[in-house]
Amino acid sequence: MQNFTLKNAPLQKGKLAIVTGANDGVGFETSLGLLSKEAKLIMACRNPEKANNAIIKLKKAFPKAEIEFIQLDLSKLSSVKSFVKEFKQKFNKLDILINNAGIMVPPFSKTEDGFESQMAVNYFAHFLLTGLLMNELEAADKARVISLSSIAHKRGKIDFDNLNAEKNYNKSAVYSQSKLACLIFAYELDRKLRNAKSSVISLAAHPGVSATNLFENMPKLATKIVMTLSKPLLNSPKAAALPSLMAALDSEVESGDYYGPSGFMEMSGKAAKANSKPQSHNLETAKKLWEVSEKLVGFKFEF
Ligand SMILES: NC(=O)c1ccc[n+]([C@@H]2O[C@H](COP(=O)([O-])OP(=O)(O)OC[C@H]3O[C@@H](n4cnc5c(N)ncnc54)[C@H](OP(=O)(O)O)[C@@H]3O)[C@@H](O)[C@H]2O)c1
Repeated sequence: MQNFTLKNAPLQKGKLAIVTGANDGVGFETSLGLLSKEAKLIMACRNPEKANNAIIKLKKAFPKAEIEFIQLDLSKLSSVKSFVKEFKQKFNKLDILINNAGIMVPPFSKTEDGFESQMAVNYFAHFLLTGLLMNELEAADKARVISLSSIAHKRGKIDFDNLNAEKNYNKSAVYSQSKLACLIFAYELDRKLRNAKSSVISLAAHPGVSATNLFENMPKLATKIVMTLSKPLLNSPKAAALPSLMAALDSEVESGDYYGPSGFMEMSGKAAKANSKPQSHNLETAKKLWEVSEKLVGFKFEF
């Protein structure tokens, strides 16, 4: 049985990791964990000022850390493409890609590419990012792609007739859909990589529940009360990063694994294999979602 601790995880000297949304919350703590293992870190963040402030904190913790910021705004496919272009100018292999950034229940808005914003940031942009980085992942030794899901995926349904809230916008339903899509993507990517006998592996993780900025769009008072009452059940951002770090670092992981906290209702606790709902394993939904995603982002994976 895997009993993951950061302390016992192998050193990552010489390995290169990208973390999206590395400047805050779970992504920041994931970055700290990777740096503690001596990986080189690319911070893929939308806001240069926030990224630089985060780098100052990370460098304070690990003065010798190798950290680079490359701007990435996941609400724009054009930004995903320019991020990858800059990455490829500097590097020719990638060992760890953590598709971490996310937003939850914002008011309705459409991105310039015509996506609903949660679907754009949480799912479609990460789909394209992974596809565009596939050659660099293949060039590394057993590279890992980690997709961030959520307990909320269990309430999710992939509504192909309303994928980008064209007909109506239920913000929590769309958040759950986006996180289910991330999990379905991780499993389908795993199947495709296995079929292609690729050395790259695909994993998923969820952080449980942690009081980060993710909740900024929730009603302030109600959220504060719920968070205060449920504090003993919540994960600190540091603990919430452990499932992602387990997926990124543990030597016993297998492609297709999904990690999350093992405590009450998977809200907090030690990182371990997590439960996902049957729909996340539905092959027909996965095939259809993949095809629709390739069409909508205008990119075809080659295996
Ligand atoms: N916290 C939880 O309880 C919880 C539970 C389940 C799943 N998750 C998942 O865990 C992941 C991390 O969430 P968190 O709790 O750490 O949230 P957070 O503290 O709000 O951090 C989210 C990160 O994503 C970045 N981001 C947002 N929109 C972006 C965009 N358009 N382009 C690039 N980066 C963008 C944010 O950048 P800015 O700082 O510039 O806004 C921030 O760095 C998310 O995928 C979330 O769905 C969290």
